[in-house]
Amino acid sequence: MVCTGFGQALALMAAALDQGGGRSVAMEEYGLTHHLEILDHASFDTPLMGVDDAGARTSDLSDTDAAAVLLTPAHQFPIGVPLSAARRSAALEWARARRAVVIEDDYDGEFRYDARPVGALQSLAPELVAYVGTASKSLAPAVHLAWLAVPPGLLDAVVEAKRLADGFTGVLEQLTLDELIRSGAYDRHVRRSRMRYRRRRDRLVAELAVRSPQVSVTGIAAGLHAVVRLGAGLTASEEEAVCSRAARAGLGIQGLGRFRRRPDPGAAAALVVGYGTPPEHAFAGAVDALCDSLA
Ligand SMILES: Cc1ncc(COP(=O)(O)O)c(C=O)c1O
Repeated sequence: MVCTGFGQALALMAAALDQGGGRSVAMEEYGLTHHLEILDHASFDTPLMGVDDAGARTSDLSDTDAAAVLLTPAHQFPIGVPLSAARRSAALEWARARRAVVIEDDYDGEFRYDARPVGALQSLAPELVAYVGTASKSLAPAVHLAWLAVPPGLLDAVVEAKRLADGFTGVLEQLTLDELIRSGAYDRHVRRSRMRYRRRRDRLVAELAVRSPQVSVTGIAAGLHAVVRLGAGLTASEEEAVCSRAARAGLGIQGLGRFRRRPDPGAAAALVVGYGTPPEHAFAGAVDALCDSLA
């Protein structure tokens, strides 16, 4: 099902699960507020799973009666770790045993820098996993295209939900993307972009190492953002203070706390720094302004 974005794919899945009597979708404790709001709006409970170095803590699923779990297995958003092999299997086993569904949010899978690509969970169990890819990172959010591979058991309900939502996704945009893919231009664009983003990432990490040695950078094997950990003992107020200084310098940077879906007063301070947005000529200045804000 071609959708207008991951948000719509999630809403369509919620409508389909609702028809089957589902009332709860488990989520990672870190993620976009917007996705929590979509499920809230559809009146779903959203039990939260912890996130650590191996990704979402799938053992937390055993405490829920969720009809689905929403995961970012390739690159946890925003923490940036991949879901470990053991937890990938655990999520699928849980879904199989509970007749539940895994919703796989593969928002930036095209941009993997250091390691081998992480395969889609969906390829291991297409009957259990609803895979969602999007053009928002590979092209631009304004393109408004995402694709949802629906497990067969939910297909009719998703088609009906899409018909009621908006009928169909823009055909000109779909035909244009189709042409880009068939001609090879999409592939070339992704390869070029991967090199460009990798250079940006390396520059960001190198500048921070020299000018802000008190911070550490994590979650950077893939994607278009880095998590910049501010240092031991610092908490939410320092996080906000750095973000305000950065905002005064013209940078839109958010603290990690903005992505936490439940309060954790003791959580260490960190920034989520997207490096894809500035135009090429402004990137060095943006990194410079970030380092000044951290000083
Ligand atoms: C975690 C996550 N999921 C999905 C998306 C894509 O959302 P959409 O396709 O609605 O633009 C993003 C942002 O690009 C994201 O950060």
